[in-house]
Amino acid sequence: MIILVIGGERGIGAALTAHLIKDQHLVIKTSRSYTSHLTKHNANCWEVQCDITNEDSIANLNEQLSKNTSHIDWLINCAGILHNDKYMPEKALKQINLNQLNDNYLTNAVGHLLLIKTLKKLITQSDHPLVTSISARIGSIDDNHLGGWYAYRMSKAALNMGLKTLAIEWYRKHPNVRFLLLHPGTTDTDLSAPFQRNLPSGQLQTVESTANLLIKQIKKNQRHKSKYPLFLDYQGQPIPW
Ligand SMILES: NC(=O)c1ccc[n+]([C@@H]2O[C@H](COP(=O)([O-])OP(=O)(O)OC[C@H]3O[C@@H](n4cnc5c(N)ncnc54)[C@H](OP(=O)(O)O)[C@@H]3O)[C@@H](O)[C@H]2O)c1
Repeated sequence: MIILVIGGERGIGAALTAHLIKDQHLVIKTSRSYTSHLTKHNANCWEVQCDITNEDSIANLNEQLSKNTSHIDWLINCAGILHNDKYMPEKALKQINLNQLNDNYLTNAVGHLLLIKTLKKLITQSDHPLVTSISARIGSIDDNHLGGWYAYRMSKAALNMGLKTLAIEWYRKHPNVRFLLLHPGTTDTDLSAPFQRNLPSGQLQTVESTANLLIKQIKKNQRHKSKYPLFLDYQGQPIPW
């Protein structure tokens, strides 16, 4: 299979990439740090730049891919942000600010949709296309019992709504395409690093363990029968919307 992993250089995306390469798939991985020309390392691994918050960058990705392949079987989008050197997740309303809300919304939700829009031809030309976005349990409106983390919560809820809306649209026009929204579980990456201290012992997963669990769920659900995306955790348990 030909698999595109957005964010394949770091964190969960890098572990997914390594696992899928070992499984003999052709993995095309992206990072904002790669060059804009697609580089073929070997028969199983190509890399090319992509910033999903930049339409020119997405258009370039589409152009580079289209020159080299007729289709993509699986798109796995791992792109996400939670904090950076300018802000941390908000604990209260008084901390929300436009910059953080915009950044989270663009990366965690809007970019995922813009990417699918631009890569539509490559995706729909596969016989059994699967579009997976790494979401988060924290994007569940029903499951929100703690509050806080406004920008991240709202952006993941928006991602879920965006993919559900698209799944309904494409169920009529492109009935072979399936969608998954997966919660990876708390995983040891740069994204979770500032919040690992108070975790109960044994709750922090390695990226390798998370990649194994997510790939198991992807394989199991790649041809699910629902018209809607499945919103599942790393153990395959459905998460309420
Ligand atoms: N770790 C956890 O505990 C946890 C829990 C729940 C959900 N998640 C979700 O899992 C996904 C992966 O996170 P992670 O933990 O692996 O974090 P990470 O190590 O910080 O990786 C974030 C990834 O997102 C990519 N990215 C960020 N902004 C991007 C942009 N504008 N365009 C394209 N790619 C972009 C980065 O790629 P480059 O910087 O190389 O471009 C990187 O590969 C995220 O969606 C996150 O919300 C993680």
